[in-house]
Amino acid sequence: MTTTFPELLGADETAATADLTTATAGEILGRCRELVRPALADTVGRLHPWVAEMAAYSFGWCDVGGTPAEGSGGKGVRQALAVLCAEAAGASGEAAVAGAVAVELVHTFSLLHDDIMDGDQTRRTRPTVWKAYGTGPAVLAGDALFALAVEALATVDGAGAAAAVRQLSVALGDLVRGQADDLLFESRPWTGPEAVGPAEYRTMAEHKTGALLGCAAALGAALAGAPEHTVAALDRAGRHMGVAFQVVDDLLGIWGDPAVTGKPVHRDLRQRKKTFPVLAALSARGPGAPAAERLATLLEVSPDTPDDATTRRAAALIEQAGGRSAALAEADRHIAAVETCLASLPLAPRASAELRTLLGFLVRRDI
Ligand code: IPE
Ligand code: MG
Ligand code: MG
Repeated sequence: MTTTFPELLGADETAATADLTTATAGEILGRCRELVRPALADTVGRLHPWVAEMAAYSFGWCDVGGTPAEGSGGKGVRQALAVLCAEAAGASGEAAVAGAVAVELVHTFSLLHDDIMDGDQTRRTRPTVWKAYGTGPAVLAGDALFALAVEALATVDGAGAAAAVRQLSVALGDLVRGQADDLLFESRPWTGPEAVGPAEYRTMAEHKTGALLGCAAALGAALAGAPEHTVAALDRAGRHMGVAFQVVDDLLGIWGDPAVTGKPVHRDLRQRKKTFPVLAALSARGPGAPAAERLATLLEVSPDTPDDATTRRAAALIEQAGGRSAALAEADRHIAAVETCLASLPLAPRASAELRTLLGFLVRRDI
């Protein structure tokens, strides 16, 4: 069964946006991908042909060997965020194209390297780049995309280039910080004074996932000439979107359908990733919370790489201890924070409605 989380966005919210936009998330994402694709393809085409092929493979534009393919790339959430934020600031989406290209390149670079760090063999149901081309080549392709992203912004016309590069640098610094914590958390204990708490998780997720979404939103607005406080508020909105997205990603990692997520079931539990549902379940420990207690014992005694029976049992105990509902509530809090940021700004109504549709898509993950 496909797990979706429709309870994350209430019916009122859906109704409120209905009269302003009839575009579905798929249509919005498709429109933004079409707008950005020529510049993205042109930028990637400047790479060494071998590196360009690995990049094109990552974007889902070709198979291993370079045969053109369609339909297995990412949805392009970050580029859409940049385009919609430029439009929300009253400009044409064209204004955001360089920013959209940069954030897509950074996102793809981070995934290439992340799949090596996480040892993941599949992404979006295809072999990861390191699996298909080798680890060294995948590191190189990631480096190349990183460098291209900086170049894409540094060569923006007008006075905005330096500010845009600075914006991206802050996001990159945070992304590395979040990734470092995510990796270090794997070897931290589940319980006791050294255990990872929900607050540490939030900071990690904001850095790892939120910083680039915030950067995408901020760059779109900044390149459109929006005032500083609008850029800052959209950065904050993107960061909250990132935490909400990461928490939902954690939920899907435990209860999602691998055929939909494209990731192996219970992979995070096997890797001892400190995901929000587990941390929330463990923080419920105490008298009258036997499931949380049993979960703590199970995790403490399980080997470094727990087997399938253990991860299945852990998933059941996480749910019984309230980890699943606590994670949904956590995602809700960050969705509400995004709403507060957006509501504080005088944004163009249609783009603003489309931003909310995109947010709904990001936290539902049901298409
Ligand atoms: C990836 O994080 C985030 C970055 C690359 C910075 P995850 O490891 O949690 O994401 P998936 O599950 O592999 O997509
Ligand atoms: Mg990963
Ligand atoms: Mg990772």
